[in-house]
Amino acid sequence: VAVSQDELKALVGQAALQYVVQGEVVGVGTGSTVNKFIEALAGIRDRIPGAVSSSDASTERLRAAGIRVFDANEVGELAVYIDGADEIDGAGHMIKGGGAALTREKIIAAQSRRFICIADESKRVEVLGRFPLPVEVIPMATQAVIRKFAALGGAAQVRQREGRPLVTDNGQHILDVTGLQIRSPLAFESEVNQWPGVVTVGVFAHQKAAVCLLGTAGGVQTLN
Ligand code: A5P
Repeated sequence: VAVSQDELKALVGQAALQYVVQGEVVGVGTGSTVNKFIEALAGIRDRIPGAVSSSDASTERLRAAGIRVFDANEVGELAVYIDGADEIDGAGHMIKGGGAALTREKIIAAQSRRFICIADESKRVEVLGRFPLPVEVIPMATQAVIRKFAALGGAAQVRQREGRPLVTDNGQHILDVTGLQIRSPLAFESEVNQWPGVVTVGVFAHQKAAVCLLGTAGGVQTLN
C-alpha cells in the first residue's frame, strides 16, 4: 500500500510527542510537518506550560490548538526544539529556510538542548545542496553576498513574492543559492556567517539535529 507524504508527516509529527518533556516549554518550528506535530501536541497540552514558536504561522496554529505561546525572552533554555527541514544528511546537518523563517528557527534551536528533526524520507540526502540554500541578508549587502557565493560556484537569486523581493519577519531579504555541494557543513556555516550583511545562513550544522525522525513507507526510522 502506498503511503502518502501527508501520512508520513503525520506519522513523524505524532512520534515527536515522546520527546516532549512534561512540565517544560517546548520549542516549535514551522512547516507542514510541524503542523502535524502541533495537532498531536494539542492532545497533551495540559502536560506542558506552553511553547516558543518560530513563526507567526505556527503561533496562530498553537493558539488555535489551545497552547500558550511564550516569547523566547520569557523562558530560559528549552529541553527540546521540534522542527522540520528541507534537507538532512546522515550526521544531522540540515538545510532550512524554505519557509523563510530560518533566523527565528536558528535562534530557538540554539536556545534548546536538543533539536528533534521531523521529516519524510524525501528530505534525506548524502550531501547538502540539492535544495537551494536560503540565506537571510541585509538588503544593502545583496550584491556583495551574491558575488561571494559566485566565487564558491553558487548562483544566488533574491527570493521574490508577487514580483517584489520577499521581506522576512525581520524586515530583510532571502537569497536562494543553487549549485553548491556542502561537504563540510560546519566550516561552511562558520565562513558564511562571517560575511558582512549575512543575517543567517540556512545551514544548521552548529545547531544540528540530535535526533531525526524520518517517515518512511516502512514506518518511522530514528536516526541519531
Ligand atoms: C521553514 O523555514 C523551513 O526551515 C521548514 O523547516 C521546512 O521548509 C520544512 O517544511 P515542511 O515540513 O513543510 O517540508
